[in-house]
Amino acid sequence: MGEIGKIVQAPEDLVAPVNVPAEAYVSPEYARAERDKLWRKVWLQAGRLEDIPEVGNYITYDIIDDSVIIVRSGPDEIRAFHNVCPHRGRKLVDIPEGKRNAHGTRPNFICGYHGWTFDLDGKNTYIEHQDDWQGHLCDGLADLGKVQVDTWGGWIWINLDPDCMPLAEYLQPAAQMLDPYGLEKMRPRWRKWIVFECNWKVAMEAFCETYHVSTTHPEFMTFGQFRGWARNQGLHSNIGYDAPKGQEEDSGKLRLGAGEDPRLTTAEMQNFTWQNANTNTTMTLVSVANRLKDELPEGTPPAEVSAYWIKTAREEDKARGVEWAQVDPQHTAQAGTAWQIFPNFQIGHAVNNMLCYQARPYGTDPDKCIFEAAVYELWPEGEAPETEWEYTRPHEWPPVLQQDFNNMAAVQQGMKNVGFRGAQPNPYMERSVASLHMNLAKFMGTGAPKTY
Ligand code: FES
Ligand SMILES: [Fe+2]
Repeated sequence: MGEIGKIVQAPEDLVAPVNVPAEAYVSPEYARAERDKLWRKVWLQAGRLEDIPEVGNYITYDIIDDSVIIVRSGPDEIRAFHNVCPHRGRKLVDIPEGKRNAHGTRPNFICGYHGWTFDLDGKNTYIEHQDDWQGHLCDGLADLGKVQVDTWGGWIWINLDPDCMPLAEYLQPAAQMLDPYGLEKMRPRWRKWIVFECNWKVAMEAFCETYHVSTTHPEFMTFGQFRGWARNQGLHSNIGYDAPKGQEEDSGKLRLGAGEDPRLTTAEMQNFTWQNANTNTTMTLVSVANRLKDELPEGTPPAEVSAYWIKTAREEDKARGVEWAQVDPQHTAQAGTAWQIFPNFQIGHAVNNMLCYQARPYGTDPDKCIFEAAVYELWPEGEAPETEWEYTRPHEWPPVLQQDFNNMAAVQQGMKNVGFRGAQPNPYMERSVASLHMNLAKFMGTGAPKTY
């Protein structure tokens, strides 16, 4: 783990306080410029491999004016194309009204306007009256335009820039730090999306720090207060908790409840989390937590309660064919609890589950975004449920997430107030906010965080 020290000591460690101007959140010109300078330049998480398991399965991914078709063109091959017919520009695959994206299975893609047809490799296979073009539709002019596509962590990533850097390079050090968690083996428990009245950055920033927890989610404070940190990691950033000495295992997501009797508080915290967030835990962890009071004597030290809880849940899962990743506590302490992948994706990782957020702009309106959250876990072979992206109104989300949502539109309104002097993120706990804007400014040429 020698490299990790270097990563943390990156020159742009952003330890000093900064001021983040409101421009990136509220300016219509900035939002319009993002299309060309940001969204058409970066790697974007566009779906999961399990969304297209069979040859001919496809999904679409839309970002402002651009739409991409991602198709499994062979058992081990995925291709991505601009979702536009090269004849006269009809969007080739329509996104069904009210749906997050299109998906399905096709042997080929037939344009609904004049019937030009394309195979799964994007090659044109049919043009009515092709001779009328006098042989000029050659050199791929009648084929679909290719989009850069690659995979990591079980996700499909696209980049609209033909000259982009390789995905593997783009994702460092996040990919290297997250690889031990085996995220590619996880499958969704639920997936929800919604349109918010705030900029996509406001939505992402509601989840990239732990500074808000004590006020926005006061219920969690009864379960013990671990100090949260945030670190800049090149293009990306991560957050985590400092665990008390002797409880280093707890610096990850699977942590004990604090209080008099950790057997009872762990159970309370697990039940509360399951019922009110439906994230960051699994049924196995909840049910083992509920038995701690029967299986461990009163007065068992916290570190032993923690070790027993996690070991027992791990074994019970193993017995039903669910194998958690093995990650040593030192790595856990460095990897933290979530990574912000620049610009608009967050992976809240653990050895047996994860919680992911993404926010995309809603057209070029700076005051709106498309927000989505998905919770994943490990399932016995073939037992993962079939899930769909479900449009979910605010009051239908888990209550803890509603608490986060409650801040978003109000932040957007506040940032537009003539009296707002720019954001002042906590340099220790909210460094991910500074990191996002420092990196955005490199693409956008404006909006950089200012030092005092
Ligand atoms: S626009 Fe597609 S076939 Fe004419
Ligand atoms: Fe929150």
